[in-house]
Amino acid sequence: MLAGVLEAKQIKTDAAALAKWGKDWTNGYTVAPSAIVFPESNQQVIEIVRYAIDRGLPLVPSGGRTGLSGGAVASSGELVVSFDRMNHILDFSPQDRRVTCQAGVLTNTLQQFALDQQLYYPVDFASSGSSQIGGNVATNAGGIRVIRYGLTRDWVVGLRAVTGRATMLNCNAGLIKNATGYDFRHLLVGSEGTLGLITEVDLRLTTPPPAQKVMIVGIPEVKNLLNVLQVFSRATKVSAFEFFSDLALEKVCAHRKLTPPLRHSVAYYALIEFDDSDTEVAFDAFEQALSGGWAVDAVMSQSEAQAQSLWALREGISESIAQYTPYKNDVSVCIHQVPEFLEEVDGFVQANYPDFEVCWYGHIGDGNLHLNILRPQGMDVAEFMAKGHAMSPKIFAMVAARQGSISAEHGVGLLKQEFLGYSRSDEEIDLMRGLKALFDPHQILNPGKLLKATTA
Ligand code: MLT
Ligand code: ZN
Repeated sequence: MLAGVLEAKQIKTDAAALAKWGKDWTNGYTVAPSAIVFPESNQQVIEIVRYAIDRGLPLVPSGGRTGLSGGAVASSGELVVSFDRMNHILDFSPQDRRVTCQAGVLTNTLQQFALDQQLYYPVDFASSGSSQIGGNVATNAGGIRVIRYGLTRDWVVGLRAVTGRATMLNCNAGLIKNATGYDFRHLLVGSEGTLGLITEVDLRLTTPPPAQKVMIVGIPEVKNLLNVLQVFSRATKVSAFEFFSDLALEKVCAHRKLTPPLRHSVAYYALIEFDDSDTEVAFDAFEQALSGGWAVDAVMSQSEAQAQSLWALREGISESIAQYTPYKNDVSVCIHQVPEFLEEVDGFVQANYPDFEVCWYGHIGDGNLHLNILRPQGMDVAEFMAKGHAMSPKIFAMVAARQGSISAEHGVGLLKQEFLGYSRSDEEIDLMRGLKALFDPHQILNPGKLLKATTA
């Protein structure tokens, strides 16, 4: 296979490798790739695509495999293209404050590189130690500091990708201004490997923020989360405004053996991060929340180590509930609609599935809620997943009624393609299919992801 293009060490076909590289963090799908290849250069990626075109062999691009929508799952003999060996930082321009990475560079490697240059790459999430830049770009990854710094898209100033025609697309080359028509870079961002295999990315860096403080505020009623967001946003430079429910806190504390942040449990908690210089005004904001009856208690970090342990209460949630094989959902609505949306979903679950527990957390400052329903003890995984699947149209109808998104940051992948119509119109989906046909005429790039596979 690909003799003369790849060395033996760049191809794996053993069962352990197929099982490892054939999936991401999503559960419940058959994992059955035919082989895994590890290109080391753009030219090798072009050769792999040519090889796939000649044989009608579907390709599944694979980054850090931390996705939660099945975007990197290979279920039926696909060739997985892993970017693990394309993990070099290729260039850095201090004048442009721009770094060029191969797709396989880990998020935290890039973050550290930026800090070493007294600069900052702000897109951050719990999986930064495993996720790769190419995957982040392909899914337009969000995370915990979107409220201040935006999404991955906002930092991409150029990229190279191999299309399904085995041609190299060089988009924007790091320019800030470029008014020459359609910007393919932004088409590739969030395309989930369906239009091109992203091989290199140019990213903007920024000035590091000043020292940060973290406060966790106890908020008994969901509607008051937004009042607290407002007073803190007015008073401080907010870098993160995250939230979690008491059930989420209970699970993370049990799993990681952590202590709850407040003396008494409260229905909801907001984790707020802001500039250290805003500490005084943050106290005032909390006082205001207290006297408004919106908040009942709070704790503030006194050191960097304490800030990190408060963050662990939020960032450890996903991992701590994995044992319940939750029915996971990642949705967004406009910020002002968050409380009534959450209450409507809660009411629906309680009325129809009284034995299901909803574990809420997410990036409330961006209107992005992670709705995780925990599998009741003793319920078979398949039965639970089937119930979750049956529940999806009901929940997505509530999202659609608010013109929200059925996937705020995790992508569509395999998990949500049949529900895409809840967030995108027929006209949009039709145009997406047209673009797919243009970029990938042989239908070999991650087929069946994002858009349902069509028979040509
Ligand atoms: C998070 O915000 O913790 C991640 O998106 C992971 C998850 O949703 O479970
Ligand atoms: Zn998230």
